[in-house]
Amino acid sequence: MTASLPATRHQGSPCRVAVVGLGYVGLPTALALHAAGMTVLGIDRDERRIAAIARGEADLVASDRRLLASAAGDERFVLTTDAGRLPEADVVMVCVPTPVDAHLAPELGALRQACETLVRQARPGQTLILTSTSFVGTARQLLVEPLETRGFTVGKDLFVAASPERIDPGRVTHTQRETPRVLGGVTPACTRRAQEVLGLVSGSAHVVGSPEAAEMTKLFENSFRAVNIALANEFADVCTSLSLDPMEIVTAAATKPYGFMAFQPGPGVGGHCIPCDPHYLLWQLRASRGSAPIVAQAMQAIADRPRQVADRVLDVLSRTGKGIAGTRVVVVGVTYKPGVRDVRSSSALDVIGLLAARGAKVDYHDPLVPSVELPNGSTVDSVVGPLGGDWDLALIHTVQPGHDYGWLEQCPIVVDATYRFLPADAAPRAEDGPSCVA
Ligand SMILES: NC(=O)c1ccc[n+]([C@@H]2O[C@H](COP(=O)([O-])OP(=O)(O)OC[C@H]3O[C@@H](n4cnc5c(N)ncnc54)[C@H](O)[C@@H]3O)[C@@H](O)[C@H]2O)c1
Repeated sequence: MTASLPATRHQGSPCRVAVVGLGYVGLPTALALHAAGMTVLGIDRDERRIAAIARGEADLVASDRRLLASAAGDERFVLTTDAGRLPEADVVMVCVPTPVDAHLAPELGALRQACETLVRQARPGQTLILTSTSFVGTARQLLVEPLETRGFTVGKDLFVAASPERIDPGRVTHTQRETPRVLGGVTPACTRRAQEVLGLVSGSAHVVGSPEAAEMTKLFENSFRAVNIALANEFADVCTSLSLDPMEIVTAAATKPYGFMAFQPGPGVGGHCIPCDPHYLLWQLRASRGSAPIVAQAMQAIADRPRQVADRVLDVLSRTGKGIAGTRVVVVGVTYKPGVRDVRSSSALDVIGLLAARGAKVDYHDPLVPSVELPNGSTVDSVVGPLGGDWDLALIHTVQPGHDYGWLEQCPIVVDATYRFLPADAAPRAEDGPSCVA
């Protein structure tokens, strides 16, 4: 029989928090809550994920790895796949994934299932906090309305709030604690209760008037990033066509102390949420025949970026008199940004697929990712101990910190899709070491 959670109290209040979904967001949240003195019930539907966390094998920054090591085996830190234990919790935080499908439409299956379970298991006195990114009205549609159908009065019997997560996995500055949370409860009592718990993981809360306002804030934040990254990429292409170094221009513009915020161009968008989240807004608007043309255009440009990167490789090859068919290419780094093991929505996977589809023999090297599954379902292994002379061209996608890339010196052509490592150069110099064609 499973022991029930210890009914501990924190500063006089019940403090058993269930975290539903122990991924990149949920696990650090669960660890932060445990470190703050809460009793944590970590629930994930994936047994393998639970087992991996129990073995200490999760992709975490060093400080969270230490928290995991000290939480392991503690009776206040319980990991389970059993959602039937939800009534033991005083507070439930939903951190399940909200991706998009191949048609870029929201894939709401995990969120709907988690919310249905929460509603079915809900008991009076609980506070339910939605932290997943989703469309405006999610908390009301998937939690408040079904709870009221069950006969609960939200704000009196039970409490519901939305506070979308802003964590940036792998980032050691701007930790959860240093990043304010936007929080909107259904009633002031809902906000107050949610704030008590969120205050333990985040230094401050910015309270907005409704869950919808909190949900919209998150979509605005990530749409803002999408639009600016698309613009940075567009400018990088324009700079290249005018024989200018894109990073020189970004760095120079960033010296303006107001009215400019630097966004870096690159092969992708540096995060798995950006190619995804704004589609929740666009999808929602389509139902009312509304539109957000600037966001839509940015998302189209982001979706098209891997093809532009592949085209650039073709362009470089053709300038050296080579074709793509049979050319040996190594893609350097496949994660969506340096320092994480996450390849979800990484442009590298599309780039590899596109180059292979055009006849290149494509390998990849990423010290953090031993193998990847490509969009066509095939699995490829990372080359261990790369030798630059094994390829005709290296494409830098992501450079993992602390690893030696000296072997790139031996590659006849190096294309730096990040614009960060090699100076822009309009002509490849095969005879005197690697050259970058921006
Ligand atoms: N990863 C990020 O960088 C990031 C940043 C900010 C916000 N977010 C948002 O946070 C949410 C979670 O993202 P993530 O990256 O942590 O996802 P993830 O894929 O890393 O993890 C989600 C976990 O939830 C589990 N899960 C799925 N359905 C479940 C269910 N019904 N019950 C229990 N467990 C379930 C999965 O097994 C998985 O382990 C998403 O809405 C995402 O958009 C993510």
